Amino acid sequence: MENLISLVNKIQRACTALGDHGEASALPTLWDSLPSIAVVGGQSSGKSSVLESIVGKDFLPRGSGIVTRRPLVLQLHKIEEGSREYAEFLHLPRKRFTDFSAVRKEISDETDRETGRSKQISSVPIHLSIYSPNVVNLTLVDLPGLTKVAVEGQPDSIVNDIENMVRSYIEKPNSIILAISPANQDLATSDAIKISREVDPTGERTLGVLTKIDLMDKGTDAVEILEGKSYRLKFPWVGVVNRSQADINKNVDMIAARRREREYFANTPEYKHLAHRMGSEHLAKMLSKHLETVIKTKIPGIQSLINKTIHELESELSRLGKPIATDAGGKLYAIMEICRLFDGTYKEHLDGVRPGGDKI
Ligand code: GDP
Ligand code: NA
Ligand code: MG
Repeated sequence: MENLISLVNKIQRACTALGDHGEASALPTLWDSLPSIAVVGGQSSGKSSVLESIVGKDFLPRGSGIVTRRPLVLQLHKIEEGSREYAEFLHLPRKRFTDFSAVRKEISDETDRETGRSKQISSVPIHLSIYSPNVVNLTLVDLPGLTKVAVEGQPDSIVNDIENMVRSYIEKPNSIILAISPANQDLATSDAIKISREVDPTGERTLGVLTKIDLMDKGTDAVEILEGKSYRLKFPWVGVVNRSQADINKNVDMIAARRREREYFANTPEYKHLAHRMGSEHLAKMLSKHLETVIKTKIPGIQSLINKTIHELESELSRLGKPIATDAGGKLYAIMEICRLFDGTYKEHLDGVRPGGDKI
């Protein structure tokens, strides 16, 4: 099934690359029909920390205030054991980043290029791919943190602008919501729960993540939440313990942090019985598995859209005339190839899947 996720990744990238050209009208619909995981939560709830733990690398800009001011579409590609990790941006197609602090700098520079260094936000996404033997195949969208007040230099409208941007991503039925809530605040006040409840009232496609469990007041614990008794979702809640600001300042590396997180759940009496389904590593595996399952159930729909797209691309290509020397023509060919590949791959996976999507 890993194949299928990476194919969907490729289609998503190709759709984006072609987005500006608008050659085929089926492309935006195709993009919307592909499932992806959107990370939502209040500012400083731990979104970036969760993403970095999933990737196992430091690469996101951080700081107080609104650091994430454009959506970041993050595609993780698992590569062969022993290969060197690298990252690539869609806007810098020929540049391979092996230094992840340079990735962080490019994210913030590229944010500034679009928003002009002001603290404005923009809904134009940045696309980043990370290739590593240590990741699971996944597509995640990091979104600006929800906030209650504008800060110095920001228009008052920013509070609503962020909310609307987040909503536009998570209201799509194909979006899987990774809702991040900090354990050291009352769950009833969680921005993530508030907005996901609005678009997914039955909790069918919301995955609840509880951060900062280590920062709870002495004498309190998160067992009720983690057992699904406080706020019920279809999927079990996952608790995580990310690096604290002090850890980050001391450069505690991700591997050490993951080990410490594992030990925390295994050795805290309250959480021992839940330890097998807690932590960032478990979260990453669960997300990848879930994404696979969702893609599988959507295959028939995706397939018919892909056929439509191939058809449109073919007529577009003949309209442009062959041979095509233009960049757009090359991209059209590329996406058509990817669609055909999907066509081949999905058939292999259809065996064992009923039309309704249930596994036999
Ligand atoms: P974001 O604004 O939602 O992206 O939040 P960040 O990931 O930047 O985290 C905000 C702050 O909380 C940072 O200083 C993190 O080190 C800290 N933090 C996040 N998660 C945890 C956690 O589980 N435990 C502790 N102790 N600190 C955390
Ligand atoms: Na932040
Ligand atoms: Mg952040």
